[in-house]
Amino acid sequence: MSSHPSSLRQSRISVKAALHSEREAPGLRLCGWVRTLRHGKETTFLELNDGSCLASLQVVVEAASPAAAEVAGIGTGACLEVTGDLVPSPAAGQRWELRATAIRLLGGADADYPLQKKRHSLEFLRSIAHLRPRSNTFGALFRVRNALAFAVHCFFQERGFLYVQTPIITANDCEGAGEMFRVTTLDPLAPPLHDGAVDWGQDFFGEKTGLTVSGQLQAELFATAFGDVYTFGPTFRAENSNTSRHVAEFWMIEPEMAFADLSDDCALAEEFLRYMVRHALEHCAEDLAFFNDRIEPGLIGKLEQLVRSEFRTLTYTEAVDLLRKSGESFSFPLGWGLDLQSEHERFLTEKIVGGPVFVTDYPAEIKAFYMRQNDDGRTVAAMDLLVPRVGEIIGGSQREERLDFLRRRMAELGIAPESLSWYLDIRRWGSCPHAGFGLGFERLLMYVTGMENIRDVIPFPRTPGNAKF
Ligand code: 4AD
Ligand code: MG
Repeated sequence: MSSHPSSLRQSRISVKAALHSEREAPGLRLCGWVRTLRHGKETTFLELNDGSCLASLQVVVEAASPAAAEVAGIGTGACLEVTGDLVPSPAAGQRWELRATAIRLLGGADADYPLQKKRHSLEFLRSIAHLRPRSNTFGALFRVRNALAFAVHCFFQERGFLYVQTPIITANDCEGAGEMFRVTTLDPLAPPLHDGAVDWGQDFFGEKTGLTVSGQLQAELFATAFGDVYTFGPTFRAENSNTSRHVAEFWMIEPEMAFADLSDDCALAEEFLRYMVRHALEHCAEDLAFFNDRIEPGLIGKLEQLVRSEFRTLTYTEAVDLLRKSGESFSFPLGWGLDLQSEHERFLTEKIVGGPVFVTDYPAEIKAFYMRQNDDGRTVAAMDLLVPRVGEIIGGSQREERLDFLRRRMAELGIAPESLSWYLDIRRWGSCPHAGFGLGFERLLMYVTGMENIRDVIPFPRTPGNAKF
């Protein structure tokens, strides 16, 4: 037979398909990596995993079979092509096993292979991010991530939202927090100067640019043409905070709806989160059961509860009052006008509410320039959705659609109107009430899988001092 690479794919079946087989099947061909290996006198047992599901398929190699020679010297982690007969397994806990008739070693692995049998810490696995997808935990994690990425598109496409790809390189700091990574082709040692400062006018784009912190501003433009739109793409923040909930590169989903106010925005966020959780429960049962056993006891119960329950809503003012009255001592100061810190957010959602909670109507000073000003003259139509263990998972708002209000707010904050003339144009011509939010995809994955460190829910995390893989 030819060993042309395409022949490896032909007639190959996945471990998942084999394990779900309805009947015995002779002559199946599988490819995968050896998870565990047990050499006996008469028989070699090995667990073959190909990432198609959490479970591995037990492969039995009789010493007398021609396949035996090929596995004699192999180690855990080796890659094999196995042909054999699927037969009922006498072993407990598995319906089928594969009796090997032929084995081909595709890639060997020696005793230095880091993922040997024993359980590894998440910290250790993080240090081998190139190999951790071959572990149970990260196999499960990235299958859930894949399923939920698909579900994002299902949710919005089913509801007629238009998917818009907003730019990654931009001249605007949407959130105004000054956390942009610079994008430049200027010589760092000898940039062109003008009046003693770097002359960004001579840079590639003719102005100062960076990696986007949010696609919202451009999504707003599209919402005023298509009604309902969403983005789903990479987002960058150069905040130098080494927490378990921040990465410098993350994925954000940002829906934007024309003809919508803050309560419509909260309603969409609630429906969306419920949909994502339900999708995971329905499509990732085996992987969620693993997280329930190993990572967060009670996880599945928590997720089922979320699908059933209604989210609570508190105004920022109510939230601050409740936190004050709780008698809890926090390390960060608490008071009207101060931003809620993650310890406050976690206390609210975990101890006071005991579930997801929207906090709305924050003081204008602690929120971005684009949020719609409330009639009280002090607060804006903002919302954050807080969930247990994660804290803030969504941030959103109704947008300021009144040109004069927006101009005044930008002037107060020292934002030059020329820098956002296109954004203001939307308010000049055919302005409409509109609202949207941003969901951090990694925060969602933390919530759904129970993983406590955001570095463990993204394939190759970017954090201060770390962009290795
Ligand atoms: O609250 P944020 O900053 O809101 C915005 O960017 C708005 N423009 C969204 C909008 O209204 N369209 O970010 C939104 C969400 C947060 O709630 C959080 O889930 C996530 O993005 N997020 C991060 N996730 C991981 N690492 C970081 N450094 C993050 N910063 C924000
Ligand atoms: Mg926020």
